Amino acid sequence: MTTPDFPAAFRETLAARRLRVLDRLGDGVMVLPASPVQYSSRDNERPYAPDRDLYYLTGLAEPGAVTVLVGGDEARVVLFVRERDPEAELWAGPRLGPEGAQERVRADACHPLSELSQRLPELLGGADLIHYRLGRHDEVEGMVLGALATARLRGPRQGTGPRGVIDPGEIIDELRLRKDESELQSLRRACRITIAGHRAAASAMRPGAGEWVVEAALEAAFRGAGASGPAYDTIVGSGVNACVLHYVRNGDTISEGDLVLIDAGAEVDHYCGDITRTYPASGSFTPAQRRVYEVVDAARQAAIEVTRPGATIRSVHEAAVRTVVEGLVDLGVLSGSVEDLMDQGAHKVFFPHQTSHWLGLDVHDPGDYAKDGKSRPLEPGMVFTVEPGLYFAPDLEDAAVHDYAGIGIRIEDDVAVTGTGCEVLTSDLPTSAADVEAMATGS
Ligand code: GLY
Ligand code: MN
Ligand code: MN
Repeated sequence: MTTPDFPAAFRETLAARRLRVLDRLGDGVMVLPASPVQYSSRDNERPYAPDRDLYYLTGLAEPGAVTVLVGGDEARVVLFVRERDPEAELWAGPRLGPEGAQERVRADACHPLSELSQRLPELLGGADLIHYRLGRHDEVEGMVLGALATARLRGPRQGTGPRGVIDPGEIIDELRLRKDESELQSLRRACRITIAGHRAAASAMRPGAGEWVVEAALEAAFRGAGASGPAYDTIVGSGVNACVLHYVRNGDTISEGDLVLIDAGAEVDHYCGDITRTYPASGSFTPAQRRVYEVVDAARQAAIEVTRPGATIRSVHEAAVRTVVEGLVDLGVLSGSVEDLMDQGAHKVFFPHQTSHWLGLDVHDPGDYAKDGKSRPLEPGMVFTVEPGLYFAPDLEDAAVHDYAGIGIRIEDDVAVTGTGCEVLTSDLPTSAADVEAMATGS
């Protein structure tokens, strides 16, 4: 079964989320299609990744399912799912079918997917706006555009019918940004299992081991602890590979004296963990590696310390940047006043990315970071990463960075904003230089 039965509390949580959407829809209608089964090559089915918005509102991980939320006086939620099909189920496993889906979700109605084209025009006919993501699903898009064309012909005389399309993210992204208790529980579990994977990776990591061996140990621990797998492509970058931000080849052998950057997260209940740790392969940092490591870890700490309701995501980044710039001045890599260097963005050569991204059902979860040009204040329930890094490209000519050439270090934790500060969801995996040295030697 692609979708297990729902505990009653989860069903109620989902119903409450749908009500929040209906409240915000006014006379609009939202159409959320899930992608059909995807193939990697010929008839080789990919593991199914449910559409996150649809899952958020229905708990369904059924390929091809479509949810229609109709706002207004006759607000209702109507589902469409694939029908049962013994021949197809023999190959690909059981389907819920309309009855199974309805038993779980308890929508206002659940119909076979084959009835969508016949029923959708009526569901859309009374809407003023259609909340639909363009460019995602040819077939459903054709129906949405058809409804708009019809409304354009008939609307002027009837005075009703949809006149425009708006992205569902305008409503759903904002809701997904503030995690409810059920989501926080899933994220805590994802982080716990991510930590177990990182511990297994640290044990497997040693000079002479392939990066892929570390990746395999980490992902085996994810699966062994109950994750569905990695939430994104695992990064095991040794030596200069650590300077490639999204290095995923994991094809080199770890050498004595290398740093090994491991960025990996488990997917649990479709929620993502996202942790990075950087270890000295041989168990102790060189003096230069340690100096850089301590700057990055101090930046991580500084960013977490300012994380609380009312702070902004920009202030979290600025706390990390300030610490990095001060550190780079201490290391002799930058010179000048910290304020001027921050204003100039002098750190960006070495710390080129943001400190944070929202985290949830997607590893880079949706939601605006700024409103009206201003960084938005943090609120309880927002979950994001804190992941400063310093990367000294191996071919940097500058004499000031010579000692650090080829060093790449990132340290990444996941945090949830609480009523008064923040909960570090990944705090059980240590970050101090001494602790990661100990982990690297298996002690
Ligand atoms: N692993 C992806 C990220 O940290 O953003
Ligand atoms: Mn991240
Ligand atoms: Mn990451």
